[in-house]
Formats: sequence, C-alpha cells, structure tokens
Amino acid sequence: MKVLAINGSPRKGGNTEIALRETLKVLSSHGIETELYQLGGRQVHGCTACNKCRQMADGKCHIKNEVIQECIDKMREADGILLGSPVYFSDVSTEMKALMDVSGYVMRGCGNPLRRKVGAAVVVARRAGGTNTFDSINHFFLINEMIVPGSSYWNIAFGKEKGDVLNDTEGIKTMHTLGENMAWLLQKINR
Ligand SMILES: Cc1cc2nc3c(=O)[nH]c(=O)nc-3n(C[C@H](O)[C@H](O)[C@H](O)COP(=O)(O)O)c2cc1C
Repeated sequence: MKVLAINGSPRKGGNTEIALRETLKVLSSHGIETELYQLGGRQVHGCTACNKCRQMADGKCHIKNEVIQECIDKMREADGILLGSPVYFSDVSTEMKALMDVSGYVMRGCGNPLRRKVGAAVVVARRAGGTNTFDSINHFFLINEMIVPGSSYWNIAFGKEKGDVLNDTEGIKTMHTLGENMAWLLQKINR
C-alpha cells in the first residue's frame, strides 16, 4: 500500500512540506509506503480546455505538461493521496490549482481511476483562509469519488516562516491524527 503526498508549496522544506512529512511519518509507522513529490515551484500549465484528454480518454494531458503528467501517473498508482498546499490569498497555490484542474479533467475522462482511493488535504496558513483552501482540495477529492478521512480538527496548521508550523502543537497533532485515521481506513478497505 502506498500514499503519495504532493507538496504544492514552491518553498521546499517549508511549512507545507513539514506538515506533510508529519502525516507521512505516522502512515509509515503503520507499514505504509510513502512518497513526497515536489510540485510547487515547477513549471506547470493549467487546463487549456482543448478537450483532447476527453477525445483520447487515455489518461494523458495533451499539452506540454510533464510535471502534471508525472503527478497524474503517480496518483493513479497510489492507494492514498495527500494534497498539501500553503494558503495563498485564501486558496490553494497556483501549482496545486493547475494539478487539480488538469488531473481532475483527465481522470474523469478516462473512467475515473481515482474512484475509492483515499484522499486528504494538508493546509498551512499564516493566519486566515485555511478552511477555504481545505474545502477547495476536498471538492477535488469528492467529485472524483474518493473517500476522505477526517481528523480531530480540519487539517490546517499555522506558520509563517519556514519551520514555524512546528510551534503549532495542535496543528501538528491534527496531522498526526489524520495519519492515524488514513492508515486505519486504508488498511480496512485494502484487505
Ligand atoms: C503569495 C502568498 C499569499 C499568501 N496568502 C495568505 C493568505 O491568504 N492567508 C494566510 O494566512 N497566509 C497567506 N500566506 C502565507 C503562507 O500561507 C504561509 O507563510 C505558509 O506557512 C507558507 O507555507 P510554506 O512554508 O509551505 O511555503 C501567503 C503567502 C504568499 C507567498
């Protein structure tokens, strides 16, 4: 069993990556294989509505979009997916929005391979906009017929400068509980 975590923050080693790694740590402790993929800060394109993915129904984005395509291929292989984003103007980062638009359109055009995979959002804000960002990511999971585990709070932690998130004890605990619940769910449905 494998969980893929995609970091939508362009700031490598930043708060979103830290929060994702805290969740992955718990998943690993349950014997689940994990991978962290760096999406933020890389060259991505949003959906151009060319509709080629729908005509071909081949699970591919037909514009030059290698990083997003790599994510799509990895998402198809994973049993569970964590999408991590910093809050940017009360919503996901540009790279995360491109991933959700393109992969959502491609996947739903090729038989919906994300159906019944487990998905969870990991969000970091300095102050506000966390719940909107959390909702944006959950909209992606739910329209793709994925199963979303909860935590002891919504999966949002706080921090501004790199590493600040580790001072948010409750936020980190929320990520740990998320990891526990995601592992429990994955083990139940993949028996
Ligand atoms: C372009 C930009 C927009 C931001 N917008 C918000 C915001 O709307 N609300 C907020 O609380 N923090 C906002 N922040 C702060 C980041 O969410 C915060 O610093 C977060 O910890 C960054 O995560 P990272 O370390 O993974 O990059 C913004 C930061 C940037 C660079």
